[in-house]
Amino acid sequence: MSRKSKEEKDKKAEKRGKERRYSRLRGMRDILFDEYKYWELVTRKARDLAVLYGFQPIETPALEKADLYERSSGKNTDVVSKEMYTFTDKSGDRVALRPEATPGLVRAYIEHGMFNLPQPVKFFWLGSLFRHEKPQSGRYRQHTQFDLEMFGEASPVADAQMILIAYNFFKELQIKVQIQINSLGCKECRADYINKLIEFYKERGKRAKLCIDCKKRFATNPLRLLDCKEEECAKVREEAPQIVDFLCNDCRDHLIKVLEYLDELDIPYNLNPFLVRGLDYYNRTVFEVTAVEGDEEESEDGAPEKKKETEEKDKRQASLGGGGRYDRLVEAMGGRPTPACGFGIGIERVILKIKEKNIPLKKDQEDFIFLAQLGEQAKRKMFILFEEMRKAGYRVRQAFTKDSLKVQLEEANRLGAKYSLILGQKELIDGTIIIRDMESGTQEMIDYKKIGAELNRRLESKDE
Ligand code: HAM
Repeated sequence: MSRKSKEEKDKKAEKRGKERRYSRLRGMRDILFDEYKYWELVTRKARDLAVLYGFQPIETPALEKADLYERSSGKNTDVVSKEMYTFTDKSGDRVALRPEATPGLVRAYIEHGMFNLPQPVKFFWLGSLFRHEKPQSGRYRQHTQFDLEMFGEASPVADAQMILIAYNFFKELQIKVQIQINSLGCKECRADYINKLIEFYKERGKRAKLCIDCKKRFATNPLRLLDCKEEECAKVREEAPQIVDFLCNDCRDHLIKVLEYLDELDIPYNLNPFLVRGLDYYNRTVFEVTAVEGDEEESEDGAPEKKKETEEKDKRQASLGGGGRYDRLVEAMGGRPTPACGFGIGIERVILKIKEKNIPLKKDQEDFIFLAQLGEQAKRKMFILFEEMRKAGYRVRQAFTKDSLKVQLEEANRLGAKYSLILGQKELIDGTIIIRDMESGTQEMIDYKKIGAELNRRLESKDE
């Protein structure tokens, strides 16, 4: 075959290969090794806090009847009407990929008769959610939430505790946040407010200035006019009546008590009259967690355009988490009247924040030990030692597929191992092993039989 025709053949084969290759769907992400350490840190923190405050883990299916979300999140919300992945399955059922966790958790609470358990019932949920949104940094079509829900507790202390947990989560990850908080009142006082709001928007051609979405919202969900991010809409709403002025006595008392708790707990908040949240089921307290910008250093090379772009992006994706009270939902979904409240935090956005601010990851609390070997026989012995140590409760790592000691120790360093145990031909014959302190680089030869005692001594003395 001539060189030219071989080149052409190779090119065609490469093109065919490219055409056959798959890539991720838009707005979907792979989490690769480098990012995984952030996932572990953030999800572990979420789990630890949840357990500390007495929340029990729960899982629900990713697929539910589409109707579940339509009736709870709300048919006219963006999440349901625009973003939900809905389809008819092979049995002819209209189903949806879970766009938010709360409705499934409410269904589970009712379906499993959890009102018979001592109240409050407290759920901790961590999982994937699907929303067909316009993808951009911090906004994905599959995202992950850490979600806490509390059923059967009407007291404002529950709202405050939810906010406290969310706040502590960020504080312990060294992310400075502020709580945006508002009250949406109850069915009765909110109805009066909505009438006033409609009257306000009907005045002097205000509606003409609104964006297309808000023109629709005026008819379907006027409260959502308040949190539109479009500049013109934001200008119009500046003069709008504020719901806090319309709260009935009970709702006002509830809000005041929540704020008093926050004051006592020293949690910074901003009473934000335009916070309404994008889901239909909330009443009384609603809140969002936003990052406090400006606590990082000003970048020297921040060209004006770029800065503006970043600010815009921040505004759009500012919400790191959000939640509130939903006292009517359980009953509306067929359960007994049960007050409830909860929140969800977007894990991807938290990780983005940690990376953006270069927050150093705290080293693993527990030190781990790397097992390195030189030669076939040593590898076999270390293989067995690895299993023995693992079963004995040591956190062990290895790179048995690598033969070079240098490469293995580089891997141990990369992983941040505290000690490496090194077994070579000589040690094998002598019945010894080398223990290397990875930080100082010092090595010591010890009796193979005394590995456990030596490691325990070193690890314990470090903890004192
Ligand atoms: P949400 O405000 O829709 O509330 O979502 C909570 C958090 O999830 C947001 O603050 C954000 O951090 C993250 N998030 C939402 N959509 C995306 C996305 N497309 N990409 C990345 N992150 C996203 C709820 O879902 C309620 N179920 C929360 C709740 C629980 N309320 C009461 N209980």
